Formats: sequence, structure tokens, C-alpha cells
Amino acid sequence: MRFPIKDFVLKQTNIYENIIECLGQGVISIDACMSITAYNNEAERISGLSRSLTIGKLLEDVFPNDSWFTEILEKTLKQGMIFIEHENIICQRMAGGMGGAVPVGLTTSTVLDHNGIIIGAVALLRDLSSIKPIKEESVRKDRLAFLGTFAAGVAHEVKNPLGGIRGAAQLLSRKVKEKGLSEYTDIIIREVDRLNKILEEILDFANPRRLNTQPINIHEALDTVILLGNRMAEEKTVNIIKGYDPSLPLVLGDKEHLVQVFLNLIKNSVEAITKNGEIIVNTRILTDFHLVEEGYKGGKMVSVEVKDNGSGISNHDMEKLFTPFFTTKAKGSGLGLALSFRIIKEHGGFFKIDSDKGKGTTVSVFLPIA
Ligand SMILES: Nc1ncnc2c1ncn2[C@@H]1O[C@H](COP(=O)(O)OP(=O)(O)OP(=O)(O)O)[C@@H](O)[C@H]1O
Ligand SMILES: [Mg+2]
Repeated sequence: MRFPIKDFVLKQTNIYENIIECLGQGVISIDACMSITAYNNEAERISGLSRSLTIGKLLEDVFPNDSWFTEILEKTLKQGMIFIEHENIICQRMAGGMGGAVPVGLTTSTVLDHNGIIIGAVALLRDLSSIKPIKEESVRKDRLAFLGTFAAGVAHEVKNPLGGIRGAAQLLSRKVKEKGLSEYTDIIIREVDRLNKILEEILDFANPRRLNTQPINIHEALDTVILLGNRMAEEKTVNIIKGYDPSLPLVLGDKEHLVQVFLNLIKNSVEAITKNGEIIVNTRILTDFHLVEEGYKGGKMVSVEVKDNGSGISNHDMEKLFTPFFTTKAKGSGLGLALSFRIIKEHGGFFKIDSDKGKGTTVSVFLPIA
């Protein structure tokens, strides 16, 4: 079909208008005097202002609270400076006053006449409200991953010289034994061992070992841990009592990892008791009927409960317990519970902690039955 030239130009203009209206980005154009000449649907939505209130008005009068926006467009218009995805906030207007703050990405370009003279400018506004939180979350995750790798790198580098220091301290210890100075070298060796343990934990945390799962007897694992716990508690006269459910089935898990978790719990309980305390280790088999805990996804589970009458935990500290490096102890690394949490999660289980400041703490670990 053929159109007369006049109709053709009209049709073309309509096409451009339609395209601009349908764009997913806000389009605002201004003339050489900074008056608004075009304002599409998306620009109306982002700013909360209808076209009838903006066309023909000065940009600074339409956006009195967004001076950055006027300044950028002025630079584009007067100096030909182009901005690409400049991120900022537009104050959205709502009926009756101010609405929300919309994060936007602004890209500008100049409008030229046939001779290449700037006669206006165009702003493209991209609404970042839904993209921003995703971006921030991924930046946070990247940073955490980087910190993990960084910490592991440092831990690895520090471990080697520590080995050297320990070896030298051992040699020195033999030489100074006769002079009665070995207590100092003993301190060096003890503290190096403590540092080494912390570094091992950091390396473990950053590079978890693969689970080596097999059917395991939880009571056997607990017996090993209680034996060690008794040794830790020797000086404090702490009684560790077993309350095992004899019908407890085998659990599919990594014995070494689970022993590590239970040891962390017993160690925490022993450390929370100043003198003459009691730690009760209970095991139970639970069904849907018993379990209404957060994290429970159905099916049978076993619970291992470590209950002490130690110092207890304040409400304020409760929410930080699983945060790596959170500790209230002078010589704690704050990795025990963080590491345990990860191991239990890898087993498809979860934790529950109840505590009464000054009265005691009960830590329960729930593990699915294979
Ligand atoms: N049974 C408990 N009674 C009282 N406080 C506890 C108990 N278990 C944990 N906590 C508190 O939680 C904190 C974190 O425990 P976590 O085991 O992660 O680290 P830590 O014991 O301080 O150091 P690490 O275990 O690495 O030697 C402890 O410092 C302590 O304040
Ligand atoms: Mg601990």
C-alpha cells in the first residue's frame, strides 16, 4: 500500500511515539531551555506524575526534590556530557504528598539538530527497585565467599611458620631445661597449639570436608565424647549423666563430624559451669507428633539433648550463637557452634537452644533417621 508523503511522516511519528510509550524504561526529554518535551508511561509510573503536569514545565520545577537529576541533565545539555547507568534515587509523588524512593539507573544522551548543535537532552530511567536487593544480596554473598577464601589463605600461610616456631621452641626447651626455664618454652608450645587449633577450624569452615556417611550408633559416638568431657570436667567436679533411649535406631551420618558436634556441645556445657555442675545427655526418638520445631520437614528424627545447669545465655546473645567468631570467652574462637550448625545442616538436621540466664542451657540436635 502507498501513502502520500504527509501521511507517511504522520505514520512514522506514531510508530516512534508507540515505541517510546511501550519502552520498559522511563523516557524524559527536555529542550534547550530545560523544559520537558516528552514524558512516557514508565516515566509517569516511576515519578508518580502524569504527563499533563510535566509537559512544558521546567525540569527543576517538576523534580524539586531530585536536584541531582536536574544537574545531570543540565551537564548533558550544556556540556554534552553523557551519563551511563548513574544510580540514584527518585522521590516518587503520590496523591496527597510524597510516595516512596525509587532507585533508578539514569542514562542520558544529547538531542542534536541537522548541524550537530545540541538542542535538547533525553533521560532514560531504569527502575532498579527489584534488581537492587538481588544485587545487594549477591554482593553480600560474594563478599562472604571472598572472606572465606581470604581467611583460609591467611590460615594456611600462618600455619607453616607456626610449625617452625613450635619446632624451635621444642629444641630450646631441651636446652633450657637444666636452667629451670622450660616453663616459658612450654607456654610457647601451648599457645602455638592453641593457634593451630583455631587455624584448623578456620580451614575446616572455609573448605568443608565431604561427608563420609554410614549407619552409625549415636550412643557409641556420645560415649567417646562423654569420656573426653569427663576429662575436661575433672577439676570442676561436673557430673555427666546419660539418659539414653535404648530403642534409638542407627542414624545415617558422618561419625567423625558428629563426634565433633557433640564434643563442641559438651565442651560448651563444661565451660559454662564454674563448679559442681551437672550435664545430662538425653537421646530420644521423635515422630511428627512431637516435632513442631522450625526446620522440621516431616519424617522420623532422633534428638540428642545436652542439658547443663551452667551460666545460661542472655537473650541478647541468643541470636548470635551461630555467627562465626562470636564468643564470650577469653580464649574461645567462637567457631564451635557455627561449625556444628553447618555439619548438622549438611546431615539434614537442625538445632534448638533453650536457655535461662543464671540457670542453664539445653541444646538439642535433631537428626533424620535414614
Ligand atoms: N552451654 C552453654 N552455656 C552457656 N553459654 C553457651 C553455651 N553454649 C554456647 N554458649 C555461648 O555461645 C558462645 C559461642 O559458642 P561457640 O561454641 O560457638 O564458641 P566458643 O565456645 O566461645 O569458642 P570455641 O568453641 O570455638 O572454643 C559461647 O562463647 C558462649 O557465650
Ligand atoms: Mg565452644
